[in-house]
Amino acid sequence: MASVPSLSASIQQRVSAALAAAVPSAADADPLLRRSDRADFQANGVLGLAKRNKANPRELAAQVVESLPSDELIAEVEVSGPGFLNITVSDAAIVRTLAARAEDDRLGVPLADDPGRTVIDYSQPNVAKEMHVGHLRSTVIGDAIVKILEFAGETVIRRHHIGDWGTQFGMLIQYLIEHPHELDHPSDGDSGEGAMSRLNRLYKASRALFDSDPEFKDRARRRVVDLQAGDEQTLALWHKIVDESKIYFYSVYDKLDVEMHDADIVGESAYNDMLAETCKLLEESGVAVESNGALCVFFDDIKAKDGTPVPLIVRKADGGYGYAATDLSAIRDRTGNLHADALLYVVDARQALHFKMVFETARRAGWLTDEVTVRHLPFGTVLGKDGKPFKTREGETFRLIDLLDEAVDRARTVIAEKSKDLTPQEIDERAEQVGIGAVKYADLSTSLTRDYTFDLDRMVSLSGDTSVYLQYAYARIRSIIRKAGDIGPVAHPELPLAPAERQLGLALDEFGDTLASVRETYEPHKLASYLYGLSSAYTAFYEHCPVLKAEGGQVMVENRLFLCDLTARTLRQGMALLGIRTPERL
Ligand code: ARG
Repeated sequence: MASVPSLSASIQQRVSAALAAAVPSAADADPLLRRSDRADFQANGVLGLAKRNKANPRELAAQVVESLPSDELIAEVEVSGPGFLNITVSDAAIVRTLAARAEDDRLGVPLADDPGRTVIDYSQPNVAKEMHVGHLRSTVIGDAIVKILEFAGETVIRRHHIGDWGTQFGMLIQYLIEHPHELDHPSDGDSGEGAMSRLNRLYKASRALFDSDPEFKDRARRRVVDLQAGDEQTLALWHKIVDESKIYFYSVYDKLDVEMHDADIVGESAYNDMLAETCKLLEESGVAVESNGALCVFFDDIKAKDGTPVPLIVRKADGGYGYAATDLSAIRDRTGNLHADALLYVVDARQALHFKMVFETARRAGWLTDEVTVRHLPFGTVLGKDGKPFKTREGETFRLIDLLDEAVDRARTVIAEKSKDLTPQEIDERAEQVGIGAVKYADLSTSLTRDYTFDLDRMVSLSGDTSVYLQYAYARIRSIIRKAGDIGPVAHPELPLAPAERQLGLALDEFGDTLASVRETYEPHKLASYLYGLSSAYTAFYEHCPVLKAEGGQVMVENRLFLCDLTARTLRQGMALLGIRTPERL
């Protein structure tokens, strides 16, 4: 494992040193280096420095150029405009850096300097309910963030805060007691679908009774009390309902190709024993006060339109604990017992106010300190083609499983048309990888807070910013490498590079820096857009630079194969971090 500094980092370091040499008081001045179309990089830091020192920027720039070491890295520096530095990297430096990356299993990507412990709350469906597109987002985004953090050496503790507690369980359990066979319908089979359809039936039947029969309603309410008190029969039935739901959740996760572990499903119920104490601590410290019988926390900056304060209710007037009490207890657990130094919540943007209030309350109570990073990573809504939240014509939410099945079907059509030499079995297998990849990529390539339209035609399209485009780029490279037979990838730093080779090379070198920036902001779409840029650079290279028929003989074939191979590995690693498969053949 050898981490490889990026060309950009090496240049940054040299220009900084040259700035400091030219103006000794500017030891930590930022050269403001960025990629540029004019040269490879442009540094704009001289301008500000000249201004602060009342110097002529062009003269200062010339001085900085003088102070740059002359070695293999920089081929050319030119002062342009009012005092920008246009920097061109040498071809040899590009190839040598890439060769060092190729030597390393991690492609030279460093581990984080100071990896910590992150608890991430994501994929939190609700028991006895269908999963919908909101749960898709939380699952897919959370899974990618987990993978990206772990790749950097971070310890990640996953928490699926499922909705497995609350008053509706009184109704479900009471109904089961009165209709003991409601959940065992072997004709539905053991599948996730079977489990969900049984739960749906139970839900509908008990709801109907609850709404029509006041005596049942009463019995259901008393059942909630039994559940909270830990009555054995009640708990056993509660478990039965939760287990049935998990069969369903796992079937969806399986289809989505995400890995989940039972131990990480720590739902609302898990914090039940902490709720009373959480309220007591808040009350004793004066963070929460009684208002109209409820235990509330107030905030100066959170008010309704008419100016009345909107409190966070931790205990309702009837003594019941709500969502907030559970989340506050979960924070106590995550900081106090799990010793997290970062808490992430991948949850719908519509819960932003809830988290704002919960975090502020936890701070006041001392459960969150400045040492702990806490972030709600809010995501936007999935829209239908009509621009409204994605619903069926009847106004119901689409079942996630149906959407996934449809995506796989569409992918099958696309593949069957494009890849004529695959067997039917191969087509089926690829259809899953391509269809599910398409759904994940469409989600992950959108910045978190933006809404996006669920448009399967666009998602499985071969061109444009889609996973299918990336997967085909990968498969095409693998096919070239197979065709090369005995000729393998070998880096040849002595060869001059064509413009498309340089662009591809520079893009390949940015993988590690991209991942660092994704970790900084928890934004997987930056990785998606990097991979798309890389594939586009590859497409341009492929058009301009024949690989197996390279004009410069075997060395050039080897060097181009080397670029191909590193591109394939970078794509595969990057896609894997997004949870997307890269089939070898398509
Ligand atoms: N179960 C909730 C829902 O489906 C999301 C839970 C989010 N996590 C949390 N700690 N509150 O909307």
